[in-house]
Amino acid sequence: MVPAKFVEVEFRMADERVSARGGMETSFGFREVGAGEKQPLVNDVFHKVAKRYDIMNDVMSAGLHRVWKDAMIAALNPPSREDYRVLDVAGGTGDIAFRIVERSGRKAHATVLDINGSMLSVGAERARKKGIDANLDFVEANAEDLPFAANSFDAYTIAFGIRNVPRIEVALKEAHRVLKRGGRLLVLEFSEVEMPLLDRFYDAWSFNAIPKFGKLITGDDAPYQYLVESIRKFPNQRDFAAMIRDAGFARVSFTNYTGGIAALHSGWKI
Ligand SMILES: C[S@@+](CC[C@H](N)C(=O)[O-])C[C@H]1O[C@@H](n2cnc3c(N)ncnc32)[C@H](O)[C@@H]1O
Repeated sequence: MVPAKFVEVEFRMADERVSARGGMETSFGFREVGAGEKQPLVNDVFHKVAKRYDIMNDVMSAGLHRVWKDAMIAALNPPSREDYRVLDVAGGTGDIAFRIVERSGRKAHATVLDINGSMLSVGAERARKKGIDANLDFVEANAEDLPFAANSFDAYTIAFGIRNVPRIEVALKEAHRVLKRGGRLLVLEFSEVEMPLLDRFYDAWSFNAIPKFGKLITGDDAPYQYLVESIRKFPNQRDFAAMIRDAGFARVSFTNYTGGIAALHSGWKI
């Protein structure tokens, strides 16, 4: 289900790689909004879903998000070192940061950064219950304007977060700035399904089942309608890889998970 090998990306000319799914800064799902209007709407979604976010992830992905997240951490393979520092951006309730800390044998340090205090509160409480809060800190800030010095982190991770950030190019440049030389970028995001038939099933599941489950479990389907629409607006694997390279990263590659429902993108600051 999870291919182990990354696909090296062949880059096309800049004018050929304009994504059919562009305009992320001014799209809130399928709705066009003004510049500067997207972030408050996104924040509203995650304030509403924060308390039920973790259970909804299991329901929406039939548990697959755990497999994809585990595969991301296996790709990162954090060393068992106390000076290894990871920045997990749009880290929400902590799933990625917790896995990194555990995989390093509770040695590495992870900073969970998110723009949304409600998501971070749930994460901080989960960390406390797991007894790993000493390896973590929680920072409320914007991915587009990171409150850290250049060359601060060994790795930058972001899972299911980048498509919610209005100015993706700015966030990727910030990722490059805060990474040390030799540092690794890993982006896990929903992507374009590249398997015939699976795409039809996935569309039916996304647009019919997910908002209904959202309503049943949280009492509101609107946030989940946004989530499924925002996935369709996000650039496909190759276009997003090109954006990563444009931000200055080298050796950019991606690997599809579950036929491309999700993809893990990788790049290095050299
Ligand atoms: C779908 S959740 C992902 C949470 C977590 N990474 C995971 O995989 O479970 C997306 C997160 O992105 C955060 N987010 C949205 N825009 C952001 C921004 N500009 N800067 C930082 N975080 C942002 C949201 O607040 C939300 O917590």
